[in-house]
Amino acid sequence: MTTFPEGFLWGAATAPHQVEGNNLNSDFWANEARVPGMERSGDACDSYHRYAEDMDLLADAGFTAYRFGLEWARIEPEEGLLSRAELAHYRRMIDAALDRGLTPVVTLQHFTHPRWFAEAGGWLAPDAVARFTRYVEAVCPILDGVEWVVTMNEPNMLSMMAALQRDMLAQQASGQWQSPTVDNARPAQLPAPDVEIGERLVAAHHAARAVLRARTDAKVGWSVANRAFEARPGAEAKLAELSWVWEDLYLAGSAGDDYVGVQSYSSQWVGPDGVEPHPEHPDNTLVGTAYRPDALAMAIRHTHAVTGLPVLVTENGIATAEDDRRIAYTSDALRGVAAAVADGIDVRGYLHWSLLDNYEWGHWRPTFGLVAVDRATFARTPKPSLAWLGSVARRNGL
Ligand code: FCB
Repeated sequence: MTTFPEGFLWGAATAPHQVEGNNLNSDFWANEARVPGMERSGDACDSYHRYAEDMDLLADAGFTAYRFGLEWARIEPEEGLLSRAELAHYRRMIDAALDRGLTPVVTLQHFTHPRWFAEAGGWLAPDAVARFTRYVEAVCPILDGVEWVVTMNEPNMLSMMAALQRDMLAQQASGQWQSPTVDNARPAQLPAPDVEIGERLVAAHHAARAVLRARTDAKVGWSVANRAFEARPGAEAKLAELSWVWEDLYLAGSAGDDYVGVQSYSSQWVGPDGVEPHPEHPDNTLVGTAYRPDALAMAIRHTHAVTGLPVLVTENGIATAEDDRRIAYTSDALRGVAAAVADGIDVRGYLHWSLLDNYEWGHWRPTFGLVAVDRATFARTPKPSLAWLGSVARRNGL
Protein backbone atom coordinates (compact mmCIF):
# COMPACT_ATOMS: atom_id res chain seq x y z
CA MET A 1 0.00 0.00 0.00
CA THR A 2 1.13 3.54 -0.78
CA THR A 3 0.75 5.62 2.36
CA PHE A 4 0.62 9.35 2.88
CA PRO A 5 2.16 11.47 5.64
CA GLU A 6 0.48 11.50 9.03
CA GLY A 7 -2.16 14.22 9.27
CA PHE A 8 -2.49 14.41 5.48
CA LEU A 9 -5.76 16.21 4.69
CA TRP A 10 -8.29 14.38 2.54
CA GLY A 11 -11.08 16.55 1.26
CA ALA A 12 -13.13 17.88 -1.58
CA ALA A 13 -13.66 21.43 -2.77
CA THR A 14 -16.45 23.69 -3.95
CA ALA A 15 -16.77 27.40 -4.73
CA PRO A 16 -19.64 29.64 -3.59
CA HIS A 17 -20.92 30.75 -6.99
CA GLN A 18 -20.85 27.22 -8.36
CA VAL A 19 -22.91 25.58 -5.61
CA GLU A 20 -24.77 28.12 -3.47
CA GLY A 21 -27.32 29.48 -5.93
CA ASN A 22 -28.73 32.96 -6.52
CA ASN A 23 -25.54 34.91 -6.14
CA LEU A 24 -27.51 37.94 -7.24
CA ASN A 25 -25.08 40.70 -6.35
CA SER A 26 -22.07 39.18 -8.08
CA ASP A 27 -20.48 40.25 -11.34
CA PHE A 28 -20.69 36.70 -12.68
CA TRP A 29 -24.47 36.60 -12.20
CA ALA A 30 -24.68 39.82 -14.22
CA ASN A 31 -22.47 38.35 -16.94
CA GLU A 32 -24.61 35.25 -17.17
CA ALA A 33 -27.59 37.41 -17.91
CA ARG A 34 -25.73 39.42 -20.50
CA VAL A 35 -23.66 36.92 -22.44
CA PRO A 36 -25.46 34.89 -25.09
CA GLY A 37 -24.80 31.15 -24.91
CA MET A 38 -24.01 31.08 -21.22
CA GLU A 39 -26.18 28.86 -19.08
CA ARG A 40 -27.43 30.43 -15.87
CA SER A 41 -26.26 29.37 -12.43
CA GLY A 42 -29.77 29.95 -11.01
CA ASP A 43 -30.28 27.97 -7.83
CA ALA A 44 -27.03 26.09 -8.52
CA CYS A 45 -26.97 23.17 -6.03
CA ASP A 46 -28.74 25.20 -3.34
CA SER A 47 -25.78 24.57 -1.08
CA TYR A 48 -26.43 27.94 0.52
CA HIS A 49 -29.20 26.08 2.39
CA ARG A 50 -27.92 22.51 2.09
CA TYR A 51 -24.30 22.87 3.19
CA ALA A 52 -24.86 20.68 6.26
CA GLU A 53 -26.04 17.82 4.06
CA ASP A 54 -23.01 18.33 1.79
CA MET A 55 -20.65 18.19 4.76
CA ASP A 56 -22.40 15.10 6.17
CA LEU A 57 -21.75 13.31 2.90
CA LEU A 58 -18.05 14.11 3.12
CA ALA A 59 -17.61 13.33 6.80
CA ASP A 60 -19.65 10.10 6.63
CA ALA A 61 -17.55 8.89 3.69
CA GLY A 62 -14.34 9.29 5.72
CA PHE A 63 -12.97 12.63 4.53
CA THR A 64 -11.20 14.98 6.91
CA ALA A 65 -11.36 18.33 5.11
CA TYR A 66 -13.73 20.54 3.14
CA ARG A 67 -12.65 23.48 1.02
CA PHE A 68 -15.39 26.03 0.50
CA GLY A 69 -15.54 29.75 -0.04
CA LEU A 70 -16.96 32.93 1.42
CA GLU A 71 -18.84 35.00 -1.14
CA TRP A 72 -17.71 38.63 -1.12
CA ALA A 73 -20.79 39.64 -3.14
CA ARG A 74 -23.05 38.43 -0.31
CA ILE A 75 -20.95 39.78 2.53
CA GLU A 76 -20.57 43.24 0.94
CA PRO A 77 -23.47 43.59 -1.50
CA GLU A 78 -22.97 47.36 -1.71
CA GLU A 79 -19.66 49.08 -1.17
CA GLY A 80 -19.13 49.52 2.55
CA LEU A 81 -22.43 47.79 3.47
CA LEU A 82 -21.42 44.68 5.37
CA SER A 83 -24.00 42.01 6.02
CA ARG A 84 -23.75 40.68 9.56
CA ALA A 85 -26.28 37.99 8.67
CA GLU A 86 -24.09 36.68 5.86
CA LEU A 87 -21.01 36.73 8.07
CA ALA A 88 -23.01 34.72 10.61
CA HIS A 89 -24.04 32.32 7.85
CA TYR A 90 -20.44 31.62 6.91
CA ARG A 91 -19.48 31.27 10.58
CA ARG A 92 -22.19 28.61 10.85
CA MET A 93 -20.60 26.83 7.89
CA ILE A 94 -17.19 26.90 9.56
CA ASP A 95 -18.74 25.54 12.77
CA ALA A 96 -20.60 22.87 10.81
CA ALA A 97 -17.32 21.68 9.31
CA LEU A 98 -15.48 21.72 12.65
CA ASP A 99 -18.36 19.89 14.36
CA ARG A 100 -18.04 17.08 11.82
CA GLY A 101 -14.28 16.78 12.17
CA LEU A 102 -13.74 18.39 8.76
CA THR A 103 -10.83 20.81 8.61
CA PRO A 104 -12.22 23.88 6.84
CA VAL A 105 -10.05 25.25 4.05
CA VAL A 106 -11.63 28.64 3.43
CA THR A 107 -11.30 30.55 0.15
CA LEU A 108 -11.95 34.27 0.44
CA GLN A 109 -12.39 34.99 -3.26
CA HIS A 110 -13.14 32.45 -5.99
CA PHE A 111 -13.49 34.19 -9.40
CA THR A 112 -16.54 36.27 -8.44
CA HIS A 113 -16.70 39.83 -7.12
CA PRO A 114 -19.49 42.06 -5.96
CA ARG A 115 -21.11 43.68 -8.94
CA TRP A 116 -20.30 47.14 -7.58
CA PHE A 117 -16.60 46.23 -7.49
CA ALA A 118 -16.62 45.23 -11.16
CA GLU A 119 -18.66 48.28 -12.14
CA ALA A 120 -16.21 50.52 -10.28
CA GLY A 121 -13.38 49.31 -12.52
CA GLY A 122 -12.53 45.90 -11.05
CA TRP A 123 -8.91 45.16 -10.23
CA LEU A 124 -7.55 48.07 -12.25
CA ALA A 125 -9.45 50.67 -10.24
CA PRO A 126 -7.12 52.73 -8.04
CA ASP A 127 -8.91 51.56 -4.88
CA ALA A 128 -9.13 47.88 -5.83
CA VAL A 129 -6.55 46.58 -3.36
CA ALA A 130 -7.94 48.74 -0.55
CA ARG A 131 -11.46 47.44 -1.29
CA PHE A 132 -10.36 43.83 -1.13
CA THR A 133 -8.37 44.48 2.03
CA ARG A 134 -11.44 45.99 3.71
CA TYR A 135 -13.41 42.87 2.84
CA VAL A 136 -10.66 40.66 4.26
CA GLU A 137 -10.66 42.72 7.47
CA ALA A 138 -14.42 42.19 7.68
CA VAL A 139 -14.17 38.41 7.51
CA CYS A 140 -11.29 37.98 9.99
CA PRO A 141 -13.61 37.85 13.04
CA ILE A 142 -15.38 34.74 11.69
CA LEU A 143 -12.14 32.84 10.96
CA ASP A 144 -11.47 31.75 14.52
CA GLY A 145 -10.36 28.09 14.48
CA VAL A 146 -9.72 28.10 10.73
CA GLU A 147 -6.27 26.72 10.02
CA TRP A 148 -6.13 27.17 6.22
CA VAL A 149 -7.09 30.29 4.31
CA VAL A 150 -6.83 30.69 0.53
CA THR A 151 -6.93 34.42 -0.15
CA MET A 152 -7.74 34.01 -3.85
CA ASN A 153 -8.49 31.12 -6.11
CA GLU A 154 -6.41 30.90 -9.29
CA PRO A 155 -5.39 34.54 -9.62
CA ASN A 156 -3.75 33.56 -12.90
CA MET A 157 -7.05 32.33 -14.35
CA LEU A 158 -8.71 35.43 -12.95
CA SER A 159 -6.22 37.61 -14.87
CA MET A 160 -6.88 35.51 -17.95
CA MET A 161 -10.62 35.94 -17.49
CA ALA A 162 -10.11 39.68 -17.20
CA ALA A 163 -8.29 39.63 -20.53
CA LEU A 164 -11.06 37.48 -21.92
CA GLN A 165 -13.66 39.87 -20.58
CA ARG A 166 -11.90 42.68 -22.36
CA ASP A 167 -12.32 40.75 -25.62
CA MET A 168 -15.77 39.57 -24.63
CA LEU A 169 -17.84 42.36 -26.09
CA ALA A 170 -16.37 41.58 -29.49
CA GLN A 171 -16.91 37.84 -28.98
CA GLN A 172 -20.42 38.50 -27.75
CA ALA A 173 -21.29 40.26 -30.96
CA SER A 174 -20.32 37.18 -32.95
CA GLY A 175 -21.77 34.67 -30.45
CA GLN A 176 -18.41 33.02 -29.79
CA TRP A 177 -18.34 33.17 -25.98
CA GLN A 178 -17.66 30.01 -23.94
CA SER A 179 -16.61 29.69 -20.34
CA PRO A 180 -12.84 29.77 -19.81
CA THR A 181 -12.66 26.24 -18.49
CA VAL A 182 -14.64 24.87 -21.38
CA ASP A 183 -12.49 26.95 -23.69
CA ASN A 184 -9.54 24.85 -22.53
CA ALA A 185 -10.63 22.64 -25.40
CA ARG A 186 -8.97 25.24 -27.58
CA PRO A 187 -6.31 26.69 -25.29
CA ALA A 188 -4.51 28.46 -28.08
CA GLN A 189 -7.50 30.77 -28.22
CA LEU A 190 -7.31 31.72 -24.55
CA PRO A 191 -5.71 35.10 -24.11
CA ALA A 192 -2.67 35.14 -21.87
CA PRO A 193 -3.37 36.41 -18.35
CA ASP A 194 -3.18 40.18 -18.11
CA VAL A 195 0.12 40.94 -16.37
CA GLU A 196 -0.99 44.35 -15.08
CA ILE A 197 -3.97 42.75 -13.37
CA GLY A 198 -1.75 39.88 -12.22
CA GLU A 199 0.54 42.32 -10.44
CA ARG A 200 -2.49 43.94 -8.81
CA LEU A 201 -3.64 40.56 -7.57
CA VAL A 202 -0.20 39.88 -6.09
CA ALA A 203 -0.44 43.21 -4.25
CA ALA A 204 -3.95 42.36 -3.06
CA HIS A 205 -2.79 38.95 -1.87
CA HIS A 206 0.08 40.50 0.08
CA ALA A 207 -2.22 43.08 1.66
CA ALA A 208 -4.71 40.35 2.60
CA ARG A 209 -1.93 38.21 4.03
CA ALA A 210 -0.76 41.02 6.29
CA VAL A 211 -4.31 41.47 7.64
CA LEU A 212 -4.85 37.74 8.14
CA ARG A 213 -1.50 37.33 9.88
CA ALA A 214 -2.27 40.17 12.25
CA ARG A 215 -5.81 39.08 13.09
CA THR A 216 -6.02 35.29 12.73
CA ASP A 217 -3.97 32.17 13.37
CA ALA A 218 -4.58 30.79 9.88
CA LYS A 219 -1.96 29.53 7.50
CA VAL A 220 -2.19 31.91 4.55
CA GLY A 221 -1.64 31.13 0.89
CA TRP A 222 -3.32 31.27 -2.48
CA SER A 223 -4.04 28.65 -5.08
CA VAL A 224 -2.48 28.80 -8.53
CA ALA A 225 -3.79 27.00 -11.62
CA ASN A 226 -1.01 24.90 -13.06
CA ARG A 227 -1.09 23.99 -16.73
CA ALA A 228 1.79 21.47 -16.56
CA PHE A 229 3.41 22.88 -19.67
CA GLU A 230 5.67 20.58 -21.67
CA ALA A 231 8.02 21.93 -24.34
CA ARG A 232 8.33 20.50 -27.83
CA PRO A 233 11.97 20.29 -28.94
CA GLY A 234 13.22 23.83 -29.53
CA ALA A 235 10.40 25.46 -27.56
CA GLU A 236 12.23 25.74 -24.22
CA ALA A 237 12.53 29.54 -24.39
CA LYS A 238 8.84 29.87 -25.28
CA LEU A 239 7.96 27.61 -22.36
CA ALA A 240 9.98 29.75 -19.96
CA GLU A 241 8.22 32.89 -21.25
CA LEU A 242 4.76 31.34 -20.98
CA SER A 243 5.48 29.84 -17.56
CA TRP A 244 6.16 33.30 -16.21
CA VAL A 245 3.02 34.88 -17.62
CA TRP A 246 0.72 31.97 -16.80
CA GLU A 247 2.08 30.70 -13.49
CA ASP A 248 5.41 31.83 -12.11
CA LEU A 249 4.43 35.46 -11.61
CA TYR A 250 1.82 34.14 -9.16
CA LEU A 251 4.08 31.50 -7.64
CA ALA A 252 6.69 34.22 -7.08
CA GLY A 253 3.87 36.19 -5.42
CA SER A 254 3.50 33.40 -2.88
CA ALA A 255 7.00 33.99 -1.48
CA GLY A 256 6.59 34.47 2.27
CA ASP A 257 3.29 32.52 2.40
CA ASP A 258 2.74 29.57 4.71
CA TYR A 259 1.90 27.21 1.87
CA VAL A 260 0.85 27.23 -1.78
CA GLY A 261 -2.27 25.69 -3.28
CA VAL A 262 -1.77 23.57 -6.39
CA GLN A 263 -4.64 23.17 -8.86
CA SER A 264 -4.17 20.79 -11.73
CA TYR A 265 -6.34 19.02 -14.28
CA SER A 266 -4.33 18.37 -17.43
CA SER A 267 -1.10 19.25 -19.17
CA GLN A 268 -0.39 21.35 -22.20
CA TRP A 269 2.16 21.24 -25.01
CA VAL A 270 4.06 24.38 -25.88
CA GLY A 271 5.60 24.74 -29.34
CA PRO A 272 7.93 27.45 -30.65
CA ASP A 273 4.89 29.60 -31.45
CA GLY A 274 3.18 29.12 -28.13
CA VAL A 275 0.53 26.90 -26.57
CA GLU A 276 -0.50 24.26 -29.08
CA PRO A 277 -4.19 23.81 -29.79
CA HIS A 278 -5.29 20.62 -28.14
CA PRO A 279 -6.61 18.09 -30.69
CA GLU A 280 -9.86 16.20 -30.49
CA HIS A 281 -9.35 12.78 -28.94
CA PRO A 282 -11.73 10.09 -27.68
CA ASP A 283 -10.01 10.18 -24.26
CA ASN A 284 -10.54 13.93 -23.84
CA THR A 285 -12.50 15.07 -20.80
CA LEU A 286 -15.86 16.84 -20.95
CA VAL A 287 -14.04 20.18 -20.98
CA GLY A 288 -11.96 19.06 -23.96
CA THR A 289 -8.68 18.66 -22.10
CA ALA A 290 -6.35 15.69 -22.47
CA TYR A 291 -6.67 12.82 -19.99
CA ARG A 292 -3.47 13.44 -18.03
CA PRO A 293 -3.56 12.23 -14.44
CA ASP A 294 0.23 12.66 -14.36
CA ALA A 295 -0.25 16.44 -14.63
CA LEU A 296 -0.78 16.74 -10.88
CA ALA A 297 2.68 15.45 -10.01
CA MET A 298 4.17 17.72 -12.68
CA ALA A 299 2.29 20.63 -11.13
CA ILE A 300 3.44 19.80 -7.60
CA ARG A 301 7.06 19.45 -8.69
CA HIS A 302 7.04 22.72 -10.65
CA THR A 303 5.32 24.60 -7.84
CA HIS A 304 7.73 23.24 -5.27
CA ALA A 305 10.75 24.04 -7.45
CA VAL A 306 9.62 27.67 -7.89
CA THR A 307 8.39 28.35 -4.36
CA GLY A 308 10.02 25.85 -1.98
CA LEU A 309 6.82 26.09 0.08
CA PRO A 310 4.69 23.31 1.57
CA VAL A 311 2.07 22.33 -0.98
CA LEU A 312 -1.64 21.72 -0.50
CA VAL A 313 -3.46 20.24 -3.48
CA THR A 314 -6.49 22.52 -3.44
CA GLU A 315 -8.04 21.18 -6.67
CA ASN A 316 -7.62 18.14 -8.89
CA GLY A 317 -10.28 16.21 -10.74
CA ILE A 318 -11.84 15.30 -14.04
CA ALA A 319 -14.96 16.30 -15.97
CA THR A 320 -16.44 12.97 -16.94
CA ALA A 321 -19.81 11.26 -17.03
CA GLU A 322 -18.11 7.93 -16.27
CA ASP A 323 -17.36 7.60 -12.61
CA ASP A 324 -14.95 4.67 -13.05
CA ARG A 325 -12.77 7.03 -15.13
CA ARG A 326 -12.84 9.49 -12.23
CA ILE A 327 -11.57 6.75 -9.92
CA ALA A 328 -8.88 5.66 -12.40
CA TYR A 329 -7.78 9.26 -12.99
CA THR A 330 -7.66 10.08 -9.29
CA SER A 331 -5.78 6.87 -8.40
CA ASP A 332 -3.10 7.71 -10.94
CA ALA A 333 -2.95 11.33 -9.83
CA LEU A 334 -2.54 10.20 -6.21
CA ARG A 335 0.25 7.81 -7.14
CA GLY A 336 2.01 10.86 -8.54
CA VAL A 337 1.42 12.74 -5.28
CA ALA A 338 2.88 9.83 -3.31
CA ALA A 339 5.95 9.78 -5.56
CA ALA A 340 6.45 13.52 -5.02
CA VAL A 341 6.17 12.99 -1.25
CA ALA A 342 8.67 10.12 -1.47
CA ASP A 343 11.06 12.53 -3.20
CA GLY A 344 10.88 14.81 -0.18
CA ILE A 345 8.25 17.35 -1.26
CA ASP A 346 6.12 18.52 1.66
CA VAL A 347 2.54 17.88 0.47
CA ARG A 348 -0.05 18.53 3.19
CA GLY A 349 -3.23 17.25 1.63
CA TYR A 350 -5.39 16.47 -1.37
CA LEU A 351 -8.71 18.24 -1.99
CA HIS A 352 -10.64 16.81 -4.90
CA TRP A 353 -12.54 19.01 -7.31
CA SER A 354 -15.36 18.68 -6.76
CA LEU A 355 -17.67 17.44 -4.07
CA LEU A 356 -20.74 18.12 -6.25
CA ASP A 357 -21.67 18.22 -9.90
CA ASN A 358 -21.96 21.97 -10.07
CA TYR A 359 -22.18 25.06 -12.25
CA GLU A 360 -19.05 25.08 -14.35
CA TRP A 361 -18.81 28.81 -15.13
CA GLY A 362 -21.37 29.01 -17.90
CA HIS A 363 -22.08 25.32 -18.36
CA TRP A 364 -23.77 22.49 -16.51
CA ARG A 365 -22.63 19.62 -18.73
CA PRO A 366 -19.06 19.14 -17.41
CA THR A 367 -19.56 16.99 -14.31
CA PHE A 368 -16.63 16.98 -11.86
CA GLY A 369 -18.54 15.76 -8.79
CA LEU A 370 -18.12 12.86 -6.42
CA VAL A 371 -21.83 13.42 -5.86
CA ALA A 372 -24.54 13.98 -8.48
CA VAL A 373 -27.15 16.66 -7.83
CA ASP A 374 -30.69 16.66 -9.20
CA ARG A 375 -31.18 20.24 -10.33
CA ALA A 376 -34.93 20.17 -9.80
CA THR A 377 -35.12 18.56 -6.35
CA PHE A 378 -31.50 19.21 -5.22
CA ALA A 379 -31.33 15.57 -4.14
CA ARG A 380 -27.73 14.45 -3.73
CA THR A 381 -26.72 11.02 -5.06
CA PRO A 382 -23.22 9.91 -4.12
CA LYS A 383 -21.25 8.27 -6.92
CA PRO A 384 -19.01 5.25 -6.21
CA SER A 385 -16.01 7.62 -6.32
CA LEU A 386 -17.16 9.29 -3.08
CA ALA A 387 -16.96 6.04 -1.10
CA TRP A 388 -13.77 5.06 -2.91
CA LEU A 389 -11.90 8.30 -2.14
CA GLY A 390 -13.33 8.23 1.39
CA SER A 391 -11.82 4.79 1.87
CA VAL A 392 -8.46 6.07 0.64
CA ALA A 393 -8.83 8.83 3.23
CA ARG A 394 -9.63 6.36 6.01
CA ARG A 395 -6.60 4.22 5.17
CA ASN A 396 -4.49 7.31 4.45
CA GLY A 397 -3.23 5.21 1.58
CA LEU A 398 -3.89 3.73 -1.81
C1 FCB B 1 -10.78 25.63 -11.77
C2 FCB B 1 -11.69 26.46 -10.90
C3 FCB B 1 -12.87 25.73 -10.36
C4 FCB B 1 -13.46 24.77 -11.38
C5 FCB B 1 -12.38 23.89 -11.94
C6 FCB B 1 -12.89 22.87 -12.92
O1 FCB B 1 -10.16 26.44 -12.69
O2 FCB B 1 -10.96 26.98 -9.81
O3 FCB B 1 -13.80 26.68 -9.91
O4 FCB B 1 -14.13 25.47 -12.35
O5 FCB B 1 -11.41 24.67 -12.57
